[in-house]
Amino acid sequence: MHETYTLSNGITIPKLGLGTWMIDNDQVTEVVKQALKLGYRHVDTAQAYQNEEGVGRGVRESGIARDEVFVTTKLAAEIKSYEEAKAAIDESLQKMGLDYIDLMLIHSPQPWMEFGEEDRFYEGNLEAWKALEEAYRDGKLRAIGVSNFIETDLDNLLENGSISPMVNQVLAHISNTPFDLIDYTQSKGILVEAYSPIAHGAVLDNEQLVEMANRYDVSVAQLCIRYDQQLGLLPLPKTKTVEHLKTNAILDFTISDEDMETLKHVEKIKDYGEARVMPVFGGKLK
Ligand SMILES: NC(=O)c1ccc[n+]([C@@H]2O[C@H](COP(=O)([O-])OP(=O)(O)OC[C@H]3O[C@@H](n4cnc5c(N)ncnc54)[C@H](OP(=O)(O)O)[C@@H]3O)[C@@H](O)[C@H]2O)c1
Repeated sequence: MHETYTLSNGITIPKLGLGTWMIDNDQVTEVVKQALKLGYRHVDTAQAYQNEEGVGRGVRESGIARDEVFVTTKLAAEIKSYEEAKAAIDESLQKMGLDYIDLMLIHSPQPWMEFGEEDRFYEGNLEAWKALEEAYRDGKLRAIGVSNFIETDLDNLLENGSISPMVNQVLAHISNTPFDLIDYTQSKGILVEAYSPIAHGAVLDNEQLVEMANRYDVSVAQLCIRYDQQLGLLPLPKTKTVEHLKTNAILDFTISDEDMETLKHVEKIKDYGEARVMPVFGGKLK
C-alpha cells in the first residue's frame, strides 16, 4: 500500500489502489474512510460511477492529510469536446470538494454506446485532452492520462498532444491480460493500471487458481492482485467488505516465475456474469 511507482512527470503513485465502481454514493464514504484507516492511500473513481461526492467526502473526513492520499477520477467517456471537458473537470473538483485531483483520465476513447465500433474519435479525444492539459498546467490536476486506449488511440495523443499521457488504465487480470498493449504502453513511458484485477469476481472459483492460491496460503483475490503487480501493473481491486479490504492489501509474497508463466496462460474467461451488461463493457465483450 505504501510502495509507489513514479509517473513520467516525477510524481509518485501508490502501487495499490481501491476501486469504487458500483459502490453507491451514500455507501462509499464509509468504505473510503475504512480503507484509508487500514492504510490504503489511493482511491479510484469516475464521473460515471456517480459517487465522486461520497469519495471526496471520505478523503476529507478521513483525518489523513490530503497530500498523503492519491485520488483518481475519470472524464465521462461521452465527453469529446473541449468546452464540455473543461466544465466537467471543474464539476469533479467541486463535487469532490478537493482543491486538486491527483490523476484524471479520459475514461474511454469511445463513448460507451460506440465501444468497439470503427470510429476512434481522434478529434474528440484531442479536444478532451487539451482541456486536461490546461487543467494540469493550472495545477487542478497533478497528472493526466487515459483509460481503455489501444495503440492507435495512444499514438493520436502522443503525436498531436503537447503532454504525453502518464497512465493508461486497462482491463488486465489473470485469463485476460493484453500483453502487447501493455508492452506498447510501457515502451512509451506510460504506467499501466489494471482494472477489474479479480475479473469482477468471475475467477474466484477457478479450480486452477484455488489450488495455486492454497499453495501460497493466500486467497484467489490476493493471487490475482499480486499477479498484476508482478507484471509491473497497478491493480485497482474493488471491495466494500472490510475483511476483503484487509486481505487484498496483504501482498508480501512472490509468485514464482514458473507459476507466473502458468497464470499468463490461464484460459480466457468467457462469461463475466452480470458485468457483461454493465456500460463499461458496453455489453459487447467478445
Ligand atoms: N477504467 C475502466 O473502464 C474501468 C472499468 C472497470 C473497473 N474499473 C476500476 O477497477 C476497479 C475494480 O474493478 P471491478 O470493480 O470491475 O472488479 P474487481 O476488483 O476485479 O472485482 C470486484 C469484485 O470482487 C469481489 N472481491 C473483492 N475482493 C475480494 C476478496 N478478497 N474475496 C472475494 N471477493 C472479493 C468484490 O465483492 P465485495 O465488494 O463483496 O468484496 C466484487 O464483487 C473498479 O472499481 C474501478 O475503480 C475501471
